[in-house]
Amino acid sequence: MLNIAVLVSGGGTNLQALIDAEKRGEIVNGKITCVISSNPDAYALERAKNNGIATVVVPKKDYPDRADYTAAVTKALVDAKADLVVYAGFMIILDSQIVKAFPGRMMNVHPALIPSFCGKGFYGLKVHEAVLESGVKLTGATVHFVTEDCDAGPIIAQKAVPVLNGDTPEILQKRVMEECEWNILPEAVSLFCQSRIKINGNKTEVI
Ligand code: GAR
Repeated sequence: MLNIAVLVSGGGTNLQALIDAEKRGEIVNGKITCVISSNPDAYALERAKNNGIATVVVPKKDYPDRADYTAAVTKALVDAKADLVVYAGFMIILDSQIVKAFPGRMMNVHPALIPSFCGKGFYGLKVHEAVLESGVKLTGATVHFVTEDCDAGPIIAQKAVPVLNGDTPEILQKRVMEECEWNILPEAVSLFCQSRIKINGNKTEVI
């Protein structure tokens, strides 16, 4: 059974999707054992506590330097004996130390179809604002491995939804979360825990 550590910063609906999937027996060979938050007020921490999951807060504001902050989060993950690290609404870009500590063992959910609308500055509602501004007719979510380059690691899963007339960033965010993120993230985590994701350069294959 793999120990899954989840990194969060906010509401934690993706964390909740993982918790619910685990309760339904859909995370095969994995257990969420720790939730680490950059934000002491994140509602995600309540979700973890309500489900008996250990929590650690590594407050961003205590570490103005990115390298120091990355070292603190990496230590928390090592202490938690994490086998898989899931970025689920974690809003801070960490440096390469963490990738070296958990190579091929970190995944992120991004609320767009990478390689569009991703990278530095594209997070949360900003992504959906940019999608609406661009006029694209499809958007969605991507789960990918975390590498040194922001949002550029091997893609594990993607799902698309339409952009509809009258959408606001909030309405679009809700559709992407409900129809894409909350499905593909638990699926990808379960596949990883069963050693069914093979990484080949910048591509993945499900076996
Ligand atoms: C989610 O839409 C997630 O994909 C996004 O923030 C939201 C967090 O929601 N993450 C990013 O934008 C990271 N680049 P949640 O806290 O309710 O899971």
